[in-house]
Order: sequence, then C-alpha cells, then structure tokens
Amino acid sequence: MSRVAYVNGRYLPHAEAAVHVEDRGLQFADGVYEVIAIVNGRPIDLGGHMTRLARSLRELRMAMPMPARPLRIVLREVVRRNRVRNGIVYLQVSRGAYKRDHPFPPPSVLPSLVVTARSGVAPSASMVENGVGVVTVADQRWARRDIKSVSLLPNVLAKQHAKDMGAYEAWQVDRDGFVTEGTSTNAWIVTQDGTLVTRPLGHDILAGITRDAVLRLAREAGLTVEERPFTVDEARAAREAFISSTTAAALPIVRIDDAVIANGVPGSITRQVWDLYEGYMAGPGAEDWIDG
Ligand code: PDD
Repeated sequence: MSRVAYVNGRYLPHAEAAVHVEDRGLQFADGVYEVIAIVNGRPIDLGGHMTRLARSLRELRMAMPMPARPLRIVLREVVRRNRVRNGIVYLQVSRGAYKRDHPFPPPSVLPSLVVTARSGVAPSASMVENGVGVVTVADQRWARRDIKSVSLLPNVLAKQHAKDMGAYEAWQVDRDGFVTEGTSTNAWIVTQDGTLVTRPLGHDILAGITRDAVLRLAREAGLTVEERPFTVDEARAAREAFISSTTAAALPIVRIDDAVIANGVPGSITRQVWDLYEGYMAGPGAEDWIDG
C-alpha cells in the first residue's frame, strides 16, 4: 500500500512529498513537532498534544498553521489514508519558506505544515518482557527543552551513542549529576521503598504527555509519586526504572550503564504502571478525532 503525506494543503504520495529548499525548518530547525500514538485507530491524548503544540508555537512566536479543528481533520485524514490502526501520526510546523535570513520572515509568510503517519512503532514484545538498557550522557541541549522543537541534534547524537553501546536509550545528565530525561522519553525510577520518582517540569525537560498520564494513573492507583530530580547514582541504586513516551509507553529499564537494575528483570511496580497505561490507551486515553 502506498503511503500518503500532507504538505501545505495537499495530500501527496509519500515519495513525492517535499518542503521548499528554503523552508526555515530545514535551514534553521525553526519549527516544532508532535508525535501522537494511534491505538485501534484512535489518537491517544490528542487534546494534550494539541495543547502542547499551541504552547510550543506560542513560546516561539510562531502562528498555528490552521485552527485546531481543521488540523484535527488533517491528522485524521492522514491516518485514514495510510490505513494506520496502530502506529503514530507525526506533525511538524515550521516558520515557513523565505529567503535565508535569521530574523523572522514578514507576517505574510505562512507557516509550513507537514503530517505523516505510519504503523507499528511500539516496542517489541521481548523489549517489554525483558526490559532495555540505557547509557548516560552529558545533556548538551539548549536551555528551553520544554519547547518541542525539531532542533534535535544533541538527541540524535546521544541516541546513536546509546545504539553504539548496545543500549536502547540515553539518559541525559545535567551539570550537577541529575538525570534530565531520555533523548525521546522521560526518565523514571522506583526507589527501594516503592516510590515513583520523575523530574519536575520546568525548562529542563519536555512536559511528556505520557509522563502526565502515568503520574495521574499511578496516583489514582495509590502509588506514591515524587516529582523531584534524581542523580545517576540514585538511579543506579534504584529498585526499578523505566522510560515513558508516546512510542515507548512505560518501558522497563534493566541496566543503566554497567549497573544492573531490578536484578536484570522488569520490576513489579513498572509492570503495574505498564498495565495501567495499557488500560488507559484501551479506554479513556483513546480520544475522538474531533472534540466537542
Ligand atoms: N518524543 N522527552 C523528549 C526529549 C521527547 O522527545 C519526548 C517525546 C518525550 C516524551 O513525551 P511524550 O510522552 O509526550 O511522547 C520526552 C517523541 C515521541 C519523538 O521525538 O519521537
């Protein structure tokens, strides 16, 4: 089946879909994005992703490419045309195409919108069952990681380093030795007394939509949760660890660098969180494409 992408008002064969050579997303990474999970044909936490998109754009003084409702229709349409039942829809907005110059283009230049979708990005059954490893790296990113910018070079380098080391993800570490987050995931540990710990929101990390859902679900299930920074040393000594994201859900971590976590097998609290999140995606997390 041939794939279809949406680019600036048109649905095109994926192989032919392209932005302008002077698109500011291409030349300056002057753009933002969202990745939304599709489960059984329905978008998970679409409202939360749309709210975060609007915030990222606002923080960068960039316009919405279209109002929220038609944007939701485009997302639904790209998912439908690609026959995605379980997968992701990706959307990217840039400040548009204009002759290369650092200041913003004139207001008459419209933002660019690109939407793609694809099936099957969930972690494999063996990753979920056996857990995965992470390596730690210095966090080399800019000071506004709360904005979901397409400027992902440090994330790309760190993720490749993880891959080279035989790990699944890299945990980025600030100057004081505290874990900020993964390259495309939020970072969690479970302390020896069973408390879930994840870094509080701020400019240092992305406000993960999955992180937010996991916090709520864990609290509702009576688990103790603390939003506070944790060090690499604390993580290495933790009872359990996991990562959360749209694509990874709540994936167990069983190794941090050379330290084995949870005897090398996913821990029971992580399993509980995984199950809670699975239930959420099969239930209240699955939203309608068009709200109201
Ligand atoms: N990444 N932290 C970073 C740096 C991320 O890029 C992401 C998402 C997350 C988790 O956020 P959420 O739960 O809203 O997916 C945390 C997406 C999936 C990506 O870049 O592919």
